[in-house]
Amino acid sequence: MINGKDSSIIIGGIGSYAPEKILSNHDLAKIVDTSDEWIRTRTGIKERRIAHNGEACSDMGARAAQAAMKHAGLEPEDIDLLIVATMTPDMPFPSTACIIQHKLGLRSIPCFDVGAACSGFLYTLEIGCQMLKSGTYRNVLIVGSEKLSSILDWQDRTTCVLFGDGAGAIILNTVDEPGIGILGTCLAANGAEGQILTMPGGGSNEPATTESVLMRRHYLKMMGKEVFKIAVKVMEQSALDLLASHNLKPHDVDCVIPHQANMRILELMSSRMGLPLDKFPINLDRFGNTSAASIPLALDEAYRDGKIKSGDYVLLIAFGAGLTWASSLIKWH
Ligand code: UT7
Repeated sequence: MINGKDSSIIIGGIGSYAPEKILSNHDLAKIVDTSDEWIRTRTGIKERRIAHNGEACSDMGARAAQAAMKHAGLEPEDIDLLIVATMTPDMPFPSTACIIQHKLGLRSIPCFDVGAACSGFLYTLEIGCQMLKSGTYRNVLIVGSEKLSSILDWQDRTTCVLFGDGAGAIILNTVDEPGIGILGTCLAANGAEGQILTMPGGGSNEPATTESVLMRRHYLKMMGKEVFKIAVKVMEQSALDLLASHNLKPHDVDCVIPHQANMRILELMSSRMGLPLDKFPINLDRFGNTSAASIPLALDEAYRDGKIKSGDYVLLIAFGAGLTWASSLIKWH
């Protein structure tokens, strides 16, 4: 029995990758009608990474996966399952997971993508944990990778200043020690509100046409204010419910890694949950919002900076298009 009274599922390896090219707020102010001051004060973002032409979601995901496998001390033949969270796949099919499988030289293992936008990493984490519990798999590779620069409208200042590119990855595996690792995950969605964050063109509902391209339908569209209000409410509620189900209170948490979308959202969550902001490792200023890559990128950085220690309670909280939201509680091994 996995994650029962004798064993636990842990993050046995972690890694991330960010493209070299930095796009600063000052650079953006040369492209659209914005300013460094507006972006910094309204979002907390100073710069973001942008993948180079020809560098696809799968390339970044494969680099992050290699780093996680190296950290876990695993070879390609050790991986039994690969799940990729992304809303910017290389192409509609084959899945980005299958493309990464090939790039990494993995065996003929199951590989698939999960589309839960910015909550995708926690959705894949939960799917990976449940599949590990079946006992069929030993080392599950979870990747969150996004090339958001490929779906941004660089004429729309209300969205193009917010997002960036990058990838993060973890290895999930089991240890013969009870009560540590991934203690639980809470997933949720509300499709009724889905229209406030979409990319309307390019799917079966609105296939690409000359007109759809001219109408700029193949770019991310967001009603920012509405998203902001819902995000703060549901992220907090999800986290509180998850903590309560483990008989914990916010002050028991040592480190919170929320989806890095807006500094004002993080500040509100910190004050509403009564948790000091220094328990929230932040990389939003340097990476912007990287959707499904946001949490693993921040988690990897926090771990490498020594902000997460053995025995710490770590809370991951996500929110994104769908609408979807999720939280996970980890007792670091
Ligand atoms: O990852 C998925 C989850 N996404 C999120 O969580 C995003 C949540 N939303 C947000 O982070 C914020 O709503 C935004 C950062 C997107 C926008 O901030 P806001 O404080 O809600 O601004 P706003 O949309 O109300 O716009 C205020 C003003 C407007 O001008 P007027 O109408 O007051 O004259 C905008 O046109 O700011 C203007 N504006 C800008 N000005 C300079 C909007 N974008 C920009 C810009 N530069 N880039």
